[in-house]
Amino acid sequence: MENTLYIKTFGCQMNERDSEIIEQLLAQDGFRSVDTPESASVVILNTCSIRAKAEQKVYSLLGQLRDSRKKAPEMLVGVAGCVAQQESRRILERMPHVDFVIGTQQIYQLPDIVQRLRSRQTEKEISTDLESQFTIPPFQKLHETVPKAGSGDFRRFVTIMQGCNNYCSYCVVPHTRGREVSRPVKDILEEVRILVRQGIKEITLLGQNVNSYGMTNPVADGKVSFSQLLRQVAEIKGVERLRFTTSNPKDLSKELMRCFAELDNLCPHFHLPVQAGSNRVLAAMNRKYTVEEYLYKVKSLREYRPDIAIATDIIVGFPGESEIDFQGTMDLLEQVRFHGSFSFKYSDRPNTRSADFSDKVPEDVKSERLSRFQRRQDQISLERNREYIGTTQHVMIESIDGSTCKGRTPTNHIVHFSRPENLFTFTTGQTVLVSVQQAGKHSLKGTVINS
Ligand code: 5AD
Ligand code: SF4
Repeated sequence: MENTLYIKTFGCQMNERDSEIIEQLLAQDGFRSVDTPESASVVILNTCSIRAKAEQKVYSLLGQLRDSRKKAPEMLVGVAGCVAQQESRRILERMPHVDFVIGTQQIYQLPDIVQRLRSRQTEKEISTDLESQFTIPPFQKLHETVPKAGSGDFRRFVTIMQGCNNYCSYCVVPHTRGREVSRPVKDILEEVRILVRQGIKEITLLGQNVNSYGMTNPVADGKVSFSQLLRQVAEIKGVERLRFTTSNPKDLSKELMRCFAELDNLCPHFHLPVQAGSNRVLAAMNRKYTVEEYLYKVKSLREYRPDIAIATDIIVGFPGESEIDFQGTMDLLEQVRFHGSFSFKYSDRPNTRSADFSDKVPEDVKSERLSRFQRRQDQISLERNREYIGTTQHVMIESIDGSTCKGRTPTNHIVHFSRPENLFTFTTGQTVLVSVQQAGKHSLKGTVINS
């Protein structure tokens, strides 16, 4: 049987990284990736459960796969990620054509699971235990699991911690990704070194709550704070750009802010989810900071690094959110003037505390608030982006399509530009100087002035 893998990834960067690991693990068994489920012998949906909508999408896609599975009896269909973790056996009950369900901490078992199913040792496989230890193998195994950077690859995520201990009242993550565990420093540094040797130029340190790295379940090599780790990674020769995601404002320290002033390769971009602009709602969300504290942190960050671009996440219509509470979110938007934001309507998630709150906001009110927020954010993003007109930006090229190029500034702004006719040596990962001439709400446009 040909070893072909189709994997579809939903949700966050954590899942994207897990999908890379899955591809790499199966590549060791001779699997190559294909673009359609019909041409695959193993189909995996790597799922997200953060909002109800994301979960519904998984079930509808699984339904569509029923026919393909029937036509190709040798095909294996599997579900991985947060819905797999959360639903476990229930997925098999609803979708009997699914062959395996693999939780967020079990992906390393995948090659064995596929092997057992193919040799008919087992008929179905469910593996969804949550362990309280770091599940990325230590250094010895890393050489096998760090994806080989292919041509054109120039950036990678490096996982520094898994799980989350915050228990925000709306959030499913502690239930799907388990307790917070930090990865040993030496493994992280080694992985970064391997990646830069393979030509990777941009590293994003990845975790649900990177600011609490080393604070809970500290790793064997002693207490190393997130900013200390960041400094060690920044020192590795070849790391041209360094980013991290995601942070909880409550754990954002002065020590970390100082890194933005002192580390040249740390990009001036900060994703700092605030969620709401009302202290009453923030308390009900169990966020453990106030609007005033958030604003103070934003102000301090901007003192350390005046050109920093701050982005956020917002939930509208959290249970009990009044019009006055929502106005607080709109006021916060005016005060911070975020460069960009991801905004969502609140939705109930299984096992979360807020799912049991009684004062739910009606769907139409949520929709109206969301569009009000997004309309204003779009205007602000456009105004913010216009501030870059006339500036010269270092743009790392992300894609080249004929003479059309797309890249990113250190502040994470997308820039479109044309490749000058005499410059055929452009490659992805290369940094060029671009003079910005136009701005839209989602991107900038400019001309290369040098390369
Ligand atoms: N409903 C709506 N949005 C949510 N998020 C997390 N949980 C929920 C939920 N139950 C949003 C938060 C988070 C982002 C990843 O998704 O804004 O930061
Ligand atoms: Fe979705 Fe959260 Fe799981 Fe990421 S950790 S896949 S955002 S539920």
